[in-house]
Amino acid sequence: MKLEGKVALITGGTKGIGLGIAVEFAREGASVVIGGRNPQTGQEGLQELEALGARALYVPCDVGDLESLQNIVDKTVEAFGKLDIYVSNAGINDSQKTPYLDITPEQYDRIMDVNLRGMFFGDQYAARQMVKQGTGGAIINMSSVNAYLALNSQMVYTTSKGGVQQLTKVQAVDLAPYGIKVNAMAPGPIETDLMRRVGSDRQLMDTILSRTPMGRIGTTRECGRLAVFLACDDSDFIMGQSIFNDGGRGFQAFPNPGYKTITDQEYDLLRSIQEGR
Ligand SMILES: NC(=O)c1ccc[n+]([C@@H]2O[C@H](COP(=O)([O-])OP(=O)(O)OC[C@H]3O[C@@H](n4cnc5c(N)ncnc54)[C@H](O)[C@@H]3O)[C@@H](O)[C@H]2O)c1
Repeated sequence: MKLEGKVALITGGTKGIGLGIAVEFAREGASVVIGGRNPQTGQEGLQELEALGARALYVPCDVGDLESLQNIVDKTVEAFGKLDIYVSNAGINDSQKTPYLDITPEQYDRIMDVNLRGMFFGDQYAARQMVKQGTGGAIINMSSVNAYLALNSQMVYTTSKGGVQQLTKVQAVDLAPYGIKVNAMAPGPIETDLMRRVGSDRQLMDTILSRTPMGRIGTTRECGRLAVFLACDDSDFIMGQSIFNDGGRGFQAFPNPGYKTITDQEYDLLRSIQEGR
């Protein structure tokens, strides 16, 4: 097992990509702490991890609140004695399609507080703990293909993920002397609630798939496996990178050759897979 004896903390780890990462960490032998705002999904996530035989804990956490972030780091150390792996995963994208000229400071602050400020300081609290321990560690930031693509329909989200890419590089440089490696993963479309909200817009889903060479959305398990790689010693000479697990979406400029508009049948099938039917 690749993470035997390690302690990992994942923000927004109660569902979606975060839970997918927690599950793969648990399968690789890590003790796992998941943070999130909703106690019900927190308990459900915890049960899934315990069913795998993992040592696991759910701690309520709002990454928009810095005290709450410090608290989850402290609770992790209290419960498991240390912190080796920190995944800054929590993220939101709730001002889709608001044109730039109409975006309010409140919309901007709401997304940036979670996606970038929460990451900046959450990583800092985790890194301070790792430095205190003196045994290095791994930090993984959740970016997106939007760090690279100029999606003006998701203006603030795209800005935040662009920031994640630069933050990851400067953190990696700053923390390397302590043996802490920092990298980011940058998914394309993945089967989660966040994507389901996007997927309810059929035209947009059609556009996304037409520009994804692999022609499908990705799974939370695939995200989890990449996170295991970035957390374990297989990736020990990799730092400051954003790994794009996106089925080729980030660099496909034009529709895939031969792509036809999504049919009713394909759309229904896709939606049913996403909804777990
Ligand atoms: N699904 C995709 O297609 C996709 C693609 C690229 C990047 N991402 C990124 O992956 C990450 C996870 O997204 P997801 O698709 O699993 O979304 P999701 O909506 O299914 O899950 C997001 C998680 O973050 C938590 N969260 C949101 N705000 C929070 C806050 N203030 N404090 C604590 N937790 C909070 C939610 O409770 C939830 O557990 C995000 O950073 C997102 O930007 C997702």
